[in-house]
Parts: sequence; C-alpha cells; structure tokens
Amino acid sequence: MVREPHLLLIPYPAQGHVPPLLKLASKIAEHGIKVTFVNTEFIAAKIMATMPEKAEKGSLIRFVSIPDGIEPDDRNDPFKTKDCMFRVMPGHLKELIKKINQSDECEPISCVIADICLGWALELAHEMGIPRAALVPYGPPTLAISFHVKKIIDAGIIDNDGYAMPMTDEWISISEETHPWKRNEFNWSCPEEPMIQKIFLEITCAAAETVRISNWVLSNSIYELDSPNCDLVPKVLPIGPLLASNQSGNSAGSLIPEDSSCLRWLDKQAIGSVIYVALGSTTTLNQQQFEELALGLESSGQPFLWVVRSNLVNESLTRFPNGFKEKLAGRGKIVEWAAQEKVLAHSSVACFLSHCGWNSTTEGLSMGVPFLCWPYFADQYQNRRFICEVWKIGLDLTPDENGIVTRHEIQRKVRRLISDDGIKSNSLKIKEMARKSLVEGGSSFKNFERFISQVKSC
Ligand code: UDX
Repeated sequence: MVREPHLLLIPYPAQGHVPPLLKLASKIAEHGIKVTFVNTEFIAAKIMATMPEKAEKGSLIRFVSIPDGIEPDDRNDPFKTKDCMFRVMPGHLKELIKKINQSDECEPISCVIADICLGWALELAHEMGIPRAALVPYGPPTLAISFHVKKIIDAGIIDNDGYAMPMTDEWISISEETHPWKRNEFNWSCPEEPMIQKIFLEITCAAAETVRISNWVLSNSIYELDSPNCDLVPKVLPIGPLLASNQSGNSAGSLIPEDSSCLRWLDKQAIGSVIYVALGSTTTLNQQQFEELALGLESSGQPFLWVVRSNLVNESLTRFPNGFKEKLAGRGKIVEWAAQEKVLAHSSVACFLSHCGWNSTTEGLSMGVPFLCWPYFADQYQNRRFICEVWKIGLDLTPDENGIVTRHEIQRKVRRLISDDGIKSNSLKIKEMARKSLVEGGSSFKNFERFISQVKSC
C-alpha cells in the first residue's frame, strides 16, 4: 500500500522565523500534502491571538504545540531561553512523533522540516530514521559563511570566540568566488557582548553539521540572486521568496496584531511618495537615536509610515520629540505593527527604511521597493552589503562618529534615494527576477517541484 506523505514542520520560536515556515507549510499543503505544524505553547498562544480566522475546516495543516519549559521571568534572557529550549523541547517532539506514528487516525511522519537553527530537531529525525530538510530563514551569504566558518577558524583568521585576529586583513573571504566581508559583518559579530557573540558563533558552527545530516536544505532565496554563495553549500534548493501574497488564505504567522488602518492611510497618499520605516521584531534604539529618526523623517518632507513597536526604544517610555505628532498633521502615520507585505506592495510606497532582516529583504525586493539600510545585528550586515553593492537596490545610512544616524543623514539619503533612477530601475529588475523564479519554469518553482516529488516518494 502506498503511504500518503505527512510532513512535520517546526520553526525556531521567534517572529523572524515562524512566518517563513508557515508560508512553506501553506505551499506544501497546496500540493495536497498533510502537514503537522509544531509551535511552542508560548508562540501558539500569540498566533491564535493575532489570526483573524481560526484553522479552516478540512485544512491539510494541523497545528499542535509543545512546551518550551521556559519560566516567565526567564523569557528575556537569551542564555536561559536557549538552554531551556534545547533541553526540554527534544523530549516533547520525540513523544509527539511517536504518538503520531502509532496513531490509526493519520499517516506516520514521512519527513521533518525544521528551521536550520533547530539542528536538534533534525538530529532527532535522523536518529528516528525519518527523512529531513533544513529550512534556512536567512540568506545564502550567511548560510555559506556558516558552512565554511570552521575553515577560517582553522586558518587562524577568526579565534574560537569569534574575534578576527589582529593581523587579519581588512577583508575576510570564505572563497574566491564570493564577496569578502569586513570583520564586523559576520553574523556572530557582537564584540561588546562576548557571551552573546559566543552563542551566535556556536549557532553558526552548528549549521554546518545540520546541513550534513539533512537530506535537503531549503533556502528562502532565489538561485539567480546569489548563485556563488548557493553553490558553496551542498544540497541547497532555493525555493523563495516565501511570500504570503503568493498563497491563498491567511498564512502570515504574525506574533503581534496588525494595524490595518495604515493601508487605508496609504490609499490617500500620492503614488511613490511614502517612506515605510520598519526595523523588524527585535531591533531597539536608544532615546536619542529614536528622536533623531523622528526628526529625520519629519525633515525629509515626504509622508511616512513608521512601525513603532512597544519595545522599539530600550527605555521604559518611548518619548517622541516635543510637538512631533501635532506637527505632522496627517503627513506621518505611526502604527505598532503593519501588514508588511501588503504595505510594501502598495503603490504609494517609495522606499523602505529597513534593518535588513532577511524576511524584510526578500519582501522588499519582491515588491521592487528601494531600501535605505540600517542593519542592527546578525546577518543584517551581510544583507545590507548585497542590497547596496551587489544588487544596487538601496543606500546605506552611515552613523556619525558617536554612532548616531543623524536627522541630516536620514534627510540626505531619503532625497538621494528617491531621485535615483538607477536604483529604482535595478529594484524593478530584481522584482521581475523574483516573479519569474516562482512561476512555471522558474528556478524556485522547479526546485520546489523537485522537492515535493522526492518527498512524495519517501
Ligand atoms: C530576525 C533577523 O533579524 C533576521 O535577519 C533573520 O534572518 C530572521 O530573524 P527580524 O529581525 O524580525 O528577524 O527581521 P525580518 O527577518 O525582517 O522579519 C520580520 C518579519 O516581520 C517580516 O516577515 C515582516 O514582514 C514582519 N513584519 C515586520 C510585519 O509583519 N509587520 C511589521 O510591522 C514589521
């Protein structure tokens, strides 16, 4: 008897990681394949609170949740949360898979797809003899660096704590075919926080082993965007961009409720006029930097839509400059969270002031929106370099000698970006490349079909 495929998907429990896995789950279900989607109980409660519709009857995606074991007081401590999750979750996932496999009500799990940052879930699948795929939520440059990091450590270019050796050249390469990096552009680079840097380096190094034990490595990217880095890692299948807008139904996986009033506000703005400002789910600014950004937007003279999360400012109270909101008189719209893909697709949007998280990068380039880049940590510096120097679809915001991106810098770069026809034209070319990759005959389309046909025969 032929067994129907049944895939188990598990994301890393964070805002930047749940949506791409959820979009992948929808794409898989559209091929008539049953999916069990595993969240932590903490994340599941947040998604349920933000999703306008509950799971549809007859849907091929079933949501289940497992405990992460994290005490409420420890949720903001990156060391405790990582230790706890990696200690507690594997046992629960193993029990869940065993239970499903023994049940008469559904097919056993035929493949596990886990975020590459959850290597333990793929090790577990390996131990249990289940085929497995890693989903990479960051871009090909970061994946290639992760796969080859040991090479630069063994060569004495980077030490075991992630610091570049003092004698190292300004530029560090992992291969002659790919772009070299500055020492502060690596995804673990966080020199002022040695413990965090160590954790990031550990996670980076672990990715290579996860690639080795995976049958497939699914990348939320497009082969043509960065073929040299894709070619540096075995088993990579670029299947992106993973976008909610390509799929039917609600698949966003937002952990914060979206304020849809900004779409109505965008409808009233002139075509190609609005600066969309969103710095992802974890970036924080100090009060001085927050005020400079506010004043920079005000002095740009353009209308702007600004996502100000409740925890964007790393102080107890977010204070706008005196009289700021009153002076805007409809020219600025501030929301706590937006429907980002819909905003980027809106014809009123002129540019995207972004922290260059990989999801934001793929969403912006798929909609043909030029970027103003303001990276904050991890892979964002690598994404910024590709945006500004490889694809040439954006400009960089440069901090002054005190580390502040001033209002003048913001005003200057907004003006330059909006009047740069070359960048606009490159953005539209990349948008077309993204569109073509997803339609029949395109590279991501073909890679995904290949994956699905192999998974069906597991
Ligand atoms: C993090 C890292 O920053 C990123 O580099 C990594 O690759 C994944 O994890 P995050 O900082 O949140 O993610 O940035 P990003 O990857 O851009 O993801 C943010 C997501 O939130 C995007 O999908 C975006 O559409 C969504 N978003 C953001 C909203 O839906 N509304 C908003 O108002 C802001």
